[in-house]
Amino acid sequence: MDLYTGSVAISREELHQRIAGKQALVCLLTDTIDAAVLDAAGPQLKIVANVAVGYNNIDVPACRARGVAVTNTPDVLTNACADFTWALILAVTRRLGEGERVVRAGKWGGWALDYMLGMELRGKQLGLVGLGRIGRAVADKAPAFGMTVAYTARTPAGLPGATHMPLDRLLATSDIVSLHCPMTPDTKHLIDQKALTKMKRSAYLINTSRGPVVDEGALAWALKERLIAGAALDVYEKEPEIHAGLMTLENVLLIPHLASATTETRTGMADLAVSNAIAVVTGQPPLTPVP
Ligand code: DGY
Repeated sequence: MDLYTGSVAISREELHQRIAGKQALVCLLTDTIDAAVLDAAGPQLKIVANVAVGYNNIDVPACRARGVAVTNTPDVLTNACADFTWALILAVTRRLGEGERVVRAGKWGGWALDYMLGMELRGKQLGLVGLGRIGRAVADKAPAFGMTVAYTARTPAGLPGATHMPLDRLLATSDIVSLHCPMTPDTKHLIDQKALTKMKRSAYLINTSRGPVVDEGALAWALKERLIAGAALDVYEKEPEIHAGLMTLENVLLIPHLASATTETRTGMADLAVSNAIAVVTGQPPLTPVP
């Protein structure tokens, strides 16, 4: 076994060097696994086990072409990611980031009747873009906040109490738009300038999916022009870089990709990835192959 213990993502050169001759690769979403990595590994490589549910960092067709299995970590992180989505929704609509910055800067002048007002959730519509495991788990908690649920999905999912609708209608009618779709060529910049202008001026955008689903430049513009009320982001187009236009805005909550970051969940993700690797190396089918 060869364990990389660096605190930043392994460099391509080092990965190429250390993967040579191995049967299994357990990798992180910060590792780009492409044909060059697979070639550097050699023909004995049997599995690429991602420690993440999203697997847009892996060239799946290149793996399949070489007979290399690809696995991800669904289910074990659903609860943590759904809870976190609600944390973002509450934090951005109740302006927690702004409030904390004011307090820490010593600029709070005391309680006032109309100070830093936010938006209540009760009676509002939560619009979910994508209804996989995490989207569903987010939807499950909506009644607790008195929200109705609308969702987009390729096929209506028959979610009781939730309304299936096309993206344009969802954008135009939702008070919170929360992204839960995978990053694919079809979803890259799904939320662009045009999509943002369809949203209500009072609405909030939440992104816990993948950064490139949102055009960050367009979002910075929409937030600055107050075309939407606010946004909460956990993921970015070029992590760990963040679009300069977002950094100076008060109406966006910027979080460093923490949705699955609980001790329980990250342990579960690591265990599942290792179990996948062991299964495939010992001739068993993978537990959670990517679709
Ligand atoms: C995932 O698993 O795809 C998450 O983004 C990790 O936090």
